[in-house]
Amino acid sequence: MKAQHRYLVGIYPGSFDPITKGHMDIIRRALRVVDKLIVAVAADTTNKKPVFSVEERAEMVRENIKELNSHGNLRVEAQPFHGLLVNFAKEHQCAVLIRGVRAVSDFEYEFQMFSMNTKLEPSIETIFLPASDTTQFIASRFVKEIARLGGDVSELVSPEVEKRLKEHFKKS
Ligand code: PNS
Repeated sequence: MKAQHRYLVGIYPGSFDPITKGHMDIIRRALRVVDKLIVAVAADTTNKKPVFSVEERAEMVRENIKELNSHGNLRVEAQPFHGLLVNFAKEHQCAVLIRGVRAVSDFEYEFQMFSMNTKLEPSIETIFLPASDTTQFIASRFVKEIARLGGDVSELVSPEVEKRLKEHFKKS
């Protein structure tokens, strides 16, 4: 019997405060697995107080993913969401959540989140993608600290994000 290919929608959720080259690596690689990817930017971020508003964070993701949608072929999009991730995933007929893991230390939190999401909605699966060796040291919280203290973040984020960080920390 011939296996039928089902159109697979994945969601890559996160705070993206701001999006980094590490996130972009996961997005590119997630597109090898799913047919369509929604980068879901959370308004409600567990235990974190974002520096940028949810709209600003989604806008930065949009600027970064532009290059991946060639010839009007919309395979990846960014959307802000409020409330529970599993509800957003169900609304978008999403079968899989994608999460990037950098180090073993990430895993405990990721495993707990996977378990909670599965309890809330057992039909949604989670796929963990290991960070590439070239980006695994990148974390948004360090990017923000470096930018705040006037350091160079050009290797860690896109030029658009670098500009927004500079503007943000000039004001504050
Ligand atoms: O990039 P982050 O901060 O590690 O992402 C965490 C995120 C945004 C995926 C998580 O906080 C989340 O899913 N928030 C939405 C609210 C929700 O569903 N919370 C229950 C998580 S078990």
